[in-house]
Amino acid sequence: MTTGYDRIRLESLRDKVISAEKAADLIKDGMVVGSSGFTKAGDSKAVLPALAEKAKNEKIKITLMTGASLGHGTDGKLAEAGVLSKRMPFQVDKTLRDKINKGEILFIDQHLSESAELLHNKNLPPVDIAIIEAAFIDRDGSIVPTTSVGNSVTFAALAKHVIIEINTAVSEDVYGIHDIYQAENYPHRNVIPIVAPWNKIGRRSIPLDPNKVIGIVFTAKKDSPADIAEPDAKTTAIARHILQFFENEVHLGHLSDRLLPIQAGIGKVANAVLMGFKDSNFYDLTMFSEVLQDSTFDLIDSGKLSFASASSVTVSEACYERVFGNLQKYREKFVLRPQNISNTPGLIRRLGVIAINTAIEFDIYGNVNSTHISGTKIMNGIGGSGDFARNAYLSIFVTQAASKENAISHVLPMISHVDHTEHDVDILVTDIGLADLRGLAPRERAQAIIDNCAHPDYRDELQSYFDRACERGGHTPHLLEEAFSWHIRFSETGSMKK
Ligand code: COA
Repeated sequence: MTTGYDRIRLESLRDKVISAEKAADLIKDGMVVGSSGFTKAGDSKAVLPALAEKAKNEKIKITLMTGASLGHGTDGKLAEAGVLSKRMPFQVDKTLRDKINKGEILFIDQHLSESAELLHNKNLPPVDIAIIEAAFIDRDGSIVPTTSVGNSVTFAALAKHVIIEINTAVSEDVYGIHDIYQAENYPHRNVIPIVAPWNKIGRRSIPLDPNKVIGIVFTAKKDSPADIAEPDAKTTAIARHILQFFENEVHLGHLSDRLLPIQAGIGKVANAVLMGFKDSNFYDLTMFSEVLQDSTFDLIDSGKLSFASASSVTVSEACYERVFGNLQKYREKFVLRPQNISNTPGLIRRLGVIAINTAIEFDIYGNVNSTHISGTKIMNGIGGSGDFARNAYLSIFVTQAASKENAISHVLPMISHVDHTEHDVDILVTDIGLADLRGLAPRERAQAIIDNCAHPDYRDELQSYFDRACERGGHTPHLLEEAFSWHIRFSETGSMKK
């Protein structure tokens, strides 16, 4: 393995090496910065933290776009230092979240497939500086990314200037795990020629005009590890309901034992569902997703999963060593793509993806809130859940029926913020059970959801709401004066219970 300057294979770029502090000095007040990083993977580990340090003594505010969330607490450090005026398209940091909810930082909560499109279509301000983590710079000046691709291809193409962070903690053997493809701009867009998750259609590195490079910084820091929560009684019950549903779909002849490519959101439910496949009869499974977690590689090891496509690998420390220390074993088993390819609506529909995502709450008609607590406070963002849910062959949302000692019901008369409408949602699952909403009219959906998904502590009250609403009439019956009473009660008393 080579280190340092050997990783700059285009010799004319070697005199661009600078410190992270010098690179941060290139970022000026008012700039738009585009940075690599997708669910903690492949993020800027030197320049953005140096910018946060610098901002402690100097007023500087930027708009920051990334692939998705950053690791190493960088979003929090930037928020704390007051660097961010606007942030997009996703975040998971508590400090940043608090400042967004106080109105101190503006946040654009965006479908992850869309930021690149909006930049190409000039619907967002142009990127002044891109910061991109790389394993190495190839002889033609192109960049070989690390553990994610995210929006880096678009940032490299459109930014006025580029700073490259060469991370020597990442093996150069990652060469070949990426599939770098960009669709043509409108009106000349062509078919994206992916017809199976394992199709590779692009280059192995990100094209870059070397004249744009204004700094190269060395780092040797691994990605922040994913927090892996072990399956508990509730997530295990949710996983069991989903696996039983799949078995029944196979029994009915709707799906084969190979199912269809699976997308799974991040978090403990997705992990529990994927782990459930280990002891199932399903085989030769594939994933067409956006993030690969530990469970993906466990399923590959157990022989159940034959290929996974995504935009990043976000795994625990042990899994990171297992995968990136054994790339010979895994390199033919997964691919990382730009997020506007991994999450392309057309491909999700073409491949017939089975999408499994988590809801904060859903209502009796099947509308889903993934992003806002009590209708106003952002949690994380919509991420890729909308890209997948609307276009999937099967769109599944999961959540616990009730939480906080059952003070919160996650099944409600009306949700306080809508991310996924009833038209996009096929299956709802809680630890109590599963409601299959396909082919049902609103009144049928409501009864299926109340019967199968509601927590027993709240079922009678939901039934009463629905019955009284039906008496009043309507295609989607509601009692508007009561629709948000559960949220209001929660904010006033700390419980949704009467
Ligand atoms: N009212 C009040 N608080 C609520 C609530 C409600 N209706 N629903 C959830 N919360 C609180 C929880 O109590 C918890 O708070 P705590 O951390 O203080 O305990 C917090 O919100 C998060 O809830 P939790 O159930 O632990 O969430 P999770 O880790 O399972 O994540 C989402 C659920 C929806 C937040 C997460 O999946 C997400 O961000 N989804 C959107 C992005 C996405 O789907 N991406 C998919 C592609 S990767």
